[in-house]
Amino acid sequence: MYIMSIQFRRNRILIISIIFIFFIIYLINNYSENLSENEYDFTDREVEEDDTKQSNNEIINRTIRTRIHSQLLGEEIVEKTLEKIDWHDYELIARENARTGLGEGGSGVEPSSQDRNNPEFERLYRANGFNAFISNKISLDRSLKDIRHPDCKKRLYLAELPTVSIIIPVHEEHLITLIRSIHSILNRTPATLLEEIILVDDNSNKDELKKALDVHISNLTKIRVIRLHKRQGLIRARLAGARKAKGDILIFFDSHIEVNINWLPPLIEPIALNYKTSVCQFIDIIKWENFAYIAQDEGARGAFDWNMYYKRLPLLSTHAENSSEPFDNPVMAGGLFAISQKWFWELGGYDEGLEIWGGEQYEISFKIWQCGGRLVDAPCSRVGHIYREFNPHSGFIFNNYISKNHKRVAAVWMDEYAEYIYKRDTHMKNLIPGNIQKQLQLRKKLECKSFKWFMENVAYDLVQNYPPVALSPYAEGEIRSMATLLCIDTKYTREHSTFGLNRCLRDHRDLSGEQQFELTWRPDIRPHGRELCFDVPKQDKRAPIVLFTCHGMRGNQHFIYDINSYHIRHVSTHLCLDCDLESKMIFMEKCNQTSKTQQWSFFSYNETLIVKDMKQYFFK
Ligand SMILES: *[C@@H]1O[C@H](CO)[C@@H](O)[C@H](O)[C@H]1NC(C)=O
Ligand SMILES: *[C@@H]1O[C@H](CO)[C@@H](O)[C@H](O)[C@H]1NC(C)=O
Ligand SMILES: *[C@@H]1O[C@H](CO)[C@@H](O)[C@H](O)[C@H]1NC(C)=O
Ligand SMILES: *[C@@H]1O[C@H](CO)[C@@H](O)[C@H](O)[C@H]1NC(C)=O
Ligand SMILES: *[C@@H]1O[C@H](CO)[C@@H](O)[C@H](O)[C@H]1NC(C)=O
Repeated sequence: MYIMSIQFRRNRILIISIIFIFFIIYLINNYSENLSENEYDFTDREVEEDDTKQSNNEIINRTIRTRIHSQLLGEEIVEKTLEKIDWHDYELIARENARTGLGEGGSGVEPSSQDRNNPEFERLYRANGFNAFISNKISLDRSLKDIRHPDCKKRLYLAELPTVSIIIPVHEEHLITLIRSIHSILNRTPATLLEEIILVDDNSNKDELKKALDVHISNLTKIRVIRLHKRQGLIRARLAGARKAKGDILIFFDSHIEVNINWLPPLIEPIALNYKTSVCQFIDIIKWENFAYIAQDEGARGAFDWNMYYKRLPLLSTHAENSSEPFDNPVMAGGLFAISQKWFWELGGYDEGLEIWGGEQYEISFKIWQCGGRLVDAPCSRVGHIYREFNPHSGFIFNNYISKNHKRVAAVWMDEYAEYIYKRDTHMKNLIPGNIQKQLQLRKKLECKSFKWFMENVAYDLVQNYPPVALSPYAEGEIRSMATLLCIDTKYTREHSTFGLNRCLRDHRDLSGEQQFELTWRPDIRPHGRELCFDVPKQDKRAPIVLFTCHGMRGNQHFIYDINSYHIRHVSTHLCLDCDLESKMIFMEKCNQTSKTQQWSFFSYNETLIVKDMKQYFFK
């Protein structure tokens, strides 16, 4: 009896709660309809909605009445009630959370000494540029850690979304790693949205990518392999896949990736709302050493410098207020993105005159923006990618194809800004880009905007971060230790290496070494003509200095030269460059006015610039 009455009371509370919730939903729906009918000023580009009524982080369906311009959901401008739902697959999440084993939860698997002694370990590393031996030990269906911004867990997306074709060029990929990429997609993609996965085998030689691959995928649904019988390179392989695709949206992937929880809806919703929007994921790192899945960072905007290197721009301050909201991105990073079929082909696909790879991310980004589209990054869509230690398949050398690709892109899209590139690289100025008539006609036909428009409205802070005309350095030449009369020598060493002192080339002309440096306007210190910078990653005692790709964002790479004390100071740690007379090592140490080992002379410096800079940091 007693138990029954509790049961009854529980039921009653439940029923009352349900009625209450429905009442709230009714109120909210009414409220949002009123708002959208009366107060919104519709444009044909934007979908307006009201997010303020999502109460207490509760996930509820909301109906928004809106006007959208989308060829995917219906022709022309339609007025449509859009339902949003929670796309999370909670059953899958629970199942994945319960998994145990090597590499589960995206954890790393450290090779044992037994592994390292196995000859296969080294062979697989050499063949792939990552520890494929470790990859073989990890389940094809391993779980990952949900490292999304917490707001992403609460977001709802359109209930009706278009279908996707995922296109994956494959060249000599390690089979298990490729299959894990496919399993992660099949496991974490809503089946109703996945039209197909198209593997484009770019004439691989590996045996395992033939019969064994076919056997593996014969049990899986929705996968096709297209085999190219002559190596085409990444760009044409993608085009070959795209031509066969049947989904509304094309998603280009690499063959060594793993998609994370609920990755698809946030990626394609912006495209459903406007077919001319193209979307990039946040790319996480799967470490080549041990397959640990970790965040790269919390996003950045893409850009380029005037040597056509891919660069990054800081996030806008408004992003912090809405960290899960897609934000405009001037240039995509390259490998992974989504675009509607319709828009991709209206833009003529990739320029088929581009060879192998390189420059295609600029071409497609400039084209999207200049011809009336939009490119955004979706922070809630995360995909891990293995950044190899080295590329074992680069034996596809075609003279200068990357410069030629860049020349094509510059000549078609960059207008007068191309001159800045040619000024730095006279070789590029004289390169013949091949026939670009088709591209120029397309630009005219689509009435695409000028590159000036792009620079002023989309990449408006690029010039400030990457000046087209190089600014003069603060100091340059050899850096000589006053205590030892030896010079810093980076010896043309690789990224991540440390370095020390050596006899100065200026005094010993028979020696070789790398002793010409620049304290640039950023200000960072780099060997002359290289894109590697002095970088202080840790703040230990005797903190090491390593060479690291220049990022131009100060931080670890921010140095100034104090011409009064002869100190080379690292701004964020307040440490000074120091050296050891015995070992000839250099390192960062607490600044000490009387220590001779902390005094350095640059061959030459510009006093005006240095004094101005010092004022900024020390005499505020
Ligand atoms: C939200 O919408 C989905 C699909 O229409 C439905 O299955 C679900 O029950 C709804 N949830 C709520 C809380 O209304
Ligand atoms: C394919 O599926 C069948 C039946 O589930 C199973 O017996 C077989 O081992 C699978 N083959 C592969 C290559 O996974
Ligand atoms: C945050 O996102 C919501 C929903 O898109 C938007 O209405 C609001 O203006 C955004 N806030 C800021 C500060 O950008
Ligand atoms: C500063 O350097 C001088 C000379 O090398 C040394 O005698 C002194 O102990 C150092 N001071 C500190 C605080 O390390
Ligand atoms: C120092 O830099 C300023 C500003 O760039 C420049 O105008 C000046 O000519 C430079 N001085 C020398 C000696 O190079």
